[in-house]
Amino acid sequence: MIEIYKSSEDLARQEIDVLVPTMGALHAGHASLIKIARQKGKKVLVSIFINPLQFEDKQDLANYPKSLDSDLRLAEKAGADAVFIPTTEVIYPGIVTEVSAGKVGELYEGKSRPKHFNGVLTVVKRLFELTTPKMAIFGEKDFQQLFLIKQMVKELSLPVDVISAPTIRDENGLALSSRNIFLDQNQKKYAQVIFRALQKSSIEDMNQEILSEPNFRLDYLEVIDENTFHPADKSTLNKRAIIAGWINQVRLIDNMTVSAKS
Ligand code: PAJ
Repeated sequence: MIEIYKSSEDLARQEIDVLVPTMGALHAGHASLIKIARQKGKKVLVSIFINPLQFEDKQDLANYPKSLDSDLRLAEKAGADAVFIPTTEVIYPGIVTEVSAGKVGELYEGKSRPKHFNGVLTVVKRLFELTTPKMAIFGEKDFQQLFLIKQMVKELSLPVDVISAPTIRDENGLALSSRNIFLDQNQKKYAQVIFRALQKSSIEDMNQEILSEPNFRLDYLEVIDENTFHPADKSTLNKRAIIAGWINQVRLIDNMTVSAKS
């Protein structure tokens, strides 16, 4: 049986090899992270905590999907040894020093969701403090989040190895997300435009593809330098297209490497 930890006392004396931080509503994307964790270390811990600090919209926080029973089954099946399900008081007892995500934290996702990344970094740092893992795994699906977590770990010299994991998609290319349950069949079809656009090799072609689907409301589309998160130029070696937008009220984000020919 999978173990359940709720407090820092439960975690004391546990030596955690790999932490997989999540907000629950687990799907095959999360499972892939847990499976990679399973191969990397002996003791694998999945945390499930819907972090209020990273939601700027109260309704969005209240509506965030929850499925604890199936989460426990999925985590166990994917190879987790334990789950950490803290209350807000365990994560934020009294004064919390908020981590600033800096300049890159204000771009792209950060522009549409002010303070979002400060909240993400603050909770990730707290989770690292409480669980003291040797490694932690994050998905490329949230590419800006991954960039900022790596940057924080480096700047603060946190003793955790950050491992990244590829994006898991459905059979039509739509990146799996806990929010996809808010899309009906038609809306899922509209959302396929994201994958089609990301496969183009120039930003002009990507934009044109996006325009072909009027039900997708674009927030941003950019080709960035993976190492700096600034817009790519001719000399950029590692380019990545990042995109976000809405179908109705459902926000979708995705990204993909861009081949050198662009
Ligand atoms: P959440 O959205 O639950 O995602 C947890 C982890 O799963 C993140 O590292 C995310 O990038 C990864 N993930 C999500 N969808 C994926 C997919 N389709 N393929 C591969 N990996 C995927 O991201 C968060 O939670 C939170 O911001 C968190 C880091 C837990 C801090 O609260």
